[in-house]
Amino acid sequence: MRLDKFLAHVTGNSRSDVKKFLKQKKVRVDGAIITSPGFQVDVDRSVVTAFDEELFYQQFVYVMMNKPKGYLSATKDGADATVMELLDAYYDRFDLSIAGRLDKDTEGLLLLTNDGQFLHEVITPKKRVYKKYLAQIEGELTVADITALENGVVIKDGKDAEFTTAPARVNVVASGEVEIEICEGKFHQVRRMFASVGCRVVYLKRLSIGGLALDEYLELGEYRELSEEELDEITKNT
Ligand code: URA
Repeated sequence: MRLDKFLAHVTGNSRSDVKKFLKQKKVRVDGAIITSPGFQVDVDRSVVTAFDEELFYQQFVYVMMNKPKGYLSATKDGADATVMELLDAYYDRFDLSIAGRLDKDTEGLLLLTNDGQFLHEVITPKKRVYKKYLAQIEGELTVADITALENGVVIKDGKDAEFTTAPARVNVVASGEVEIEICEGKFHQVRRMFASVGCRVVYLKRLSIGGLALDEYLELGEYRELSEEELDEITKNT
């Protein structure tokens, strides 16, 4: 990778600022002062320092957020606030995408990453990564309704044409409180699944994605990066 690109990515400075540091002889690669912006660095092996501090290259980033209500799961929106606005400016350099959007009114576990392969594995229904939601509902949910949700229901309204949902897991945790696990991510899917059996979702929170549960110490709007072990958890226990 070009040294100016490496420095801009790691430090968050513009390429023109980076060129200034280089001219000022503040950057060393493997001990030697380098002033050329086009100098090639090996991101895994070269030891790069700027102002005598070693710099470490992070290619991929995986962020877990406890999404609050009122924020769009979008990278940009003209009118509404987006989840990106909750992130520190440090993350601007990573060009993050959302691995499984949540509706504006839904809370809970949201993953953001710049790893396209990971993103695909989390969201594709083929990989059967189940997402667990807690839904507070209004209306009577009968045993027959639960069986219907578990087997697959036809969603008629919303953006998609008629669609039969894949098998879901349903667990009534209290009166009007249901956990539901689905491995698809159609627009408003959980709300529309409950609507199909005559119930209305009044509160929705995502609790987990695959084997990864929302960190209960994250307040709404807070986030943190995932550990490598947690990354592995996602595709387990689905
Ligand atoms: N299903 C919904 O209806 N909304 C979400 O935000 C996620 C799943």
